[in-house]
Amino acid sequence: MTGADRDAAGTGVAAPAVSFARVSKAFGGVRALSDVSFEVLPGEVHCIAGENGSGKSTLIKIITGVYQPDPGAEMSYFGRRVDSVTPAVARGLGINVIWQDLALFPQMTVAENIAFGDILGSRPRLVHRRQMRAKAERVLDRLGVSLDLDARLNTLSIAERQIVAICRTLVGDARLVFMDEPTASLTHSETQSLLAIVRKLSADGVSIVFVSHRLAEVLAISSRVTVLRDGRKVGVYDTEGMTQSRLTELMTGKTFDAEVISGDRSAERAVLEVSGLCRAGEYEDIDLTIRAGEVVGLTGLIGAGRTELGLSLFGMTRPERGAVRLNGEPVSFRSNRDAIAAGVAYVSEDRLTLGLVQPQSIADNVVLPVLGKIVNGLDLISTGKKNDLVSRWIRELNVKVGRPEDPVSTLSGGNQQRIVLAKWLATEPKLLILDSPTVGVDVGARAGLFAIVRQLAAEGLAILLISDEVPEVYFNADRIIHMAGGRFIASYDPRALSLAAVEKAVYA
Ligand SMILES: Nc1ncnc2c1ncn2[C@@H]1O[C@H](COP(=O)(O)OP(=O)(O)OP(=O)(O)O)[C@@H](O)[C@H]1O
Ligand SMILES: [Mg+2]
Repeated sequence: MTGADRDAAGTGVAAPAVSFARVSKAFGGVRALSDVSFEVLPGEVHCIAGENGSGKSTLIKIITGVYQPDPGAEMSYFGRRVDSVTPAVARGLGINVIWQDLALFPQMTVAENIAFGDILGSRPRLVHRRQMRAKAERVLDRLGVSLDLDARLNTLSIAERQIVAICRTLVGDARLVFMDEPTASLTHSETQSLLAIVRKLSADGVSIVFVSHRLAEVLAISSRVTVLRDGRKVGVYDTEGMTQSRLTELMTGKTFDAEVISGDRSAERAVLEVSGLCRAGEYEDIDLTIRAGEVVGLTGLIGAGRTELGLSLFGMTRPERGAVRLNGEPVSFRSNRDAIAAGVAYVSEDRLTLGLVQPQSIADNVVLPVLGKIVNGLDLISTGKKNDLVSRWIRELNVKVGRPEDPVSTLSGGNQQRIVLAKWLATEPKLLILDSPTVGVDVGARAGLFAIVRQLAAEGLAILLISDEVPEVYFNADRIIHMAGGRFIASYDPRALSLAAVEKAVYA
């Protein structure tokens, strides 16, 4: 019985916001979805969980009309059967998506970004500034947040832009909002405020579909979770009573046990030695030694200066004072080219802007920083060498790719992140800086990625692991440094302290 039938029978049960059955989708040879059913109830927060490439984004794109499903799918929205849907039709039904890139206008103000779509949708007439501001203000009020309405978008943080994107969907009377990895680039506290907004919307009767690889978040926010594995639906589960390890098992078919791996590397040779490093407004008085085979975890809250320090060590910005030595040699990088040449690799938090050249092929992205290594005497890239290197890293990192010649943009988000890592590992660095390397990467792949990190450390690499997820540094670093206000304020030994104690100290 569909929701519409129930309504027609006068039981008073509201129809599901969406009810889909038999959804399949193939892209060439890749079956992204096979015979999936999916239902979201009114006012429900529903998560879609699954490993990288399991089909989460594809399902969202089908429901929101971006992709057409393969023939045979049954689709209804709010109890009404629909034969096919376009993005415009979906919007007309009150369905909104907050895409990863947010699709906002950077040069326009907060008020304009919030109310613009609504105004564009109406008949052409003069845009009343005051009316627009009032509209924007009403939605901000509804969410209980305050933002400067006249600030230009490009002056806001990612978290604030996300709020603007959410507000924009609400101006148009959203009944169902899709959020695909909305917290991927947010810090711990920003995530908490986003989750508060999601709860508020749901209390107002708006249905939310939420995708995140942070399972703690999935369990905290949703009432039900649909699990996908390899494009198939494993099942739909109540989150009450669900645990992270059970959910991981459903997603991967495997179990993962976290254990502390830290050890004492103080007798090893120092690879990186930093003393008295300063850059006004970013970090101050930084002393840091990372030894061969050592993984140092760097954690802290928003604005702690972790990324700023990482960028300086990678030559992207210049320290104003202090000294850096690499393998005992003093270094002073004028650019990241100098840093790469000296053996520093940097896997960034933001794969889309710093990490990959989207339109280029997977193979070219892996090869980019090592061009020097594989050019032969004639300054041409040796195809044989290029192919060797590419297939080696794609195999080692277990990247799910069609062909290495495909553009990187066709890969699922988490697989793109693995390509970023492959790209840097191919440079055979001495110091590897990982800045939030698992943003958007699924649990299975995280475990795989950290197994690689450990292996690299065992081979003598020095590794700086930057993350605001305390468990990530706790289980993968030899020691943890806590940064706040641009300074190192404490260090913790995972062998001596419980995870809860470190979390309490960092998040307090
Ligand atoms: N436009 C496309 N062309 C070719 N293949 C595609 C396209 N879109 C998705 N795919 C493939 O379909 C599969 C599912 O991808 P999808 O983006 O839905 O995964 P996902 O679950 O969202 O993963 P992630 O967690 O990494 O974001 C992947 O193998 C992906 O490479
Ligand atoms: Mg996705």
